[in-house]
Amino acid sequence: MSSLGTIFITGSNRGIGLEFAKQYSLKNWDVIATCRNTNKAEELIELSKNNNNLSLMDLDITNKDSVEELANKLDGKPIDILINNAAYLGPPEPQKFGQIDYNIFSESFEVNAIGPIRITEKLINNVRKSDMKKIIFLGSGAGSITQIMPPVTLYSYRASKAALHLVVNNLYHDLHSENIIVSLINPGMVDTRGFLDLKLGDPIPEHLTKMVPITLIKMIQEGKIPMITSLESVQNMMQYIDQLSIDTKPLFVNCDGTPMPW
Ligand SMILES: NC(=O)c1ccc[n+]([C@@H]2O[C@H](COP(=O)([O-])OP(=O)(O)OC[C@H]3O[C@@H](n4cnc5c(N)ncnc54)[C@H](OP(=O)(O)O)[C@@H]3O)[C@@H](O)[C@H]2O)c1
Repeated sequence: MSSLGTIFITGSNRGIGLEFAKQYSLKNWDVIATCRNTNKAEELIELSKNNNNLSLMDLDITNKDSVEELANKLDGKPIDILINNAAYLGPPEPQKFGQIDYNIFSESFEVNAIGPIRITEKLINNVRKSDMKKIIFLGSGAGSITQIMPPVTLYSYRASKAALHLVVNNLYHDLHSENIIVSLINPGMVDTRGFLDLKLGDPIPEHLTKMVPITLIKMIQEGKIPMITSLESVQNMMQYIDQLSIDTKPLFVNCDGTPMPW
């Protein structure tokens, strides 16, 4: 069976990026799965052993040399779908007002707001050469100003995602006349950390509190914030991406295509 096209994914060693790599590979796409250190990406390495349509490449989206090297290696190969998935959430405590860690704030902007446009700018000619010409960015409800409500958390992650949303909005207008499709998708509250294994009343493991604010974990545990699996989110996004056209509106949507407020 011939390939359905070429897809390029950032941050594909774990979480949603890994699920994208698995699912697109299963559906017979040529997958270029990138991450910071392919030698340590055990699940991707395992996956690539059984799927010769999956190739692994090193890419740190914050590093100019890494981006340059990757673009040179691709040597003008057409990319039908570019998925900007990689992101940095950062620990919750240093993202609270009164104790903000500005190194973490900068890192969030480097990875979440600057990195995606840096790699997209570098690979735009690869996208231009392709048949489908789709560029996808993983946005977040956490970066939606309309949706902010207490408990207010994650200053740097939220600010950097809001900045990404504006960058994507600019890019959408810039590329529209070239028939290049740009889309911003909120994957939903996706369980990439094992929250769905927590039962009501279970003690909250310390490692989870270092990743996500405890107030949010309690709301998840109580079922007040419904979470979905990576598989469910990615299957929804793939269906949506598949039917995207240059006329699709709005720009910012949930994984099932329903509109997201900015
Ligand atoms: N999970 C959710 O509920 C949720 C909700 C809304 C939006 N999102 C968005 O959906 C996307 C995927 O989320 P996720 O939960 O799967 O994230 P995740 O589990 O935290 O994974 C993030 C990925 O980004 C990579 N990454 C970090 N810094 C990088 C850099 N400088 N260069 C290249 N890769 C880098 C990580 O690689 P390392 O392993 O090397 O760190 C990892 O592969 C993100 O854009 C996230 O903001 C997720």
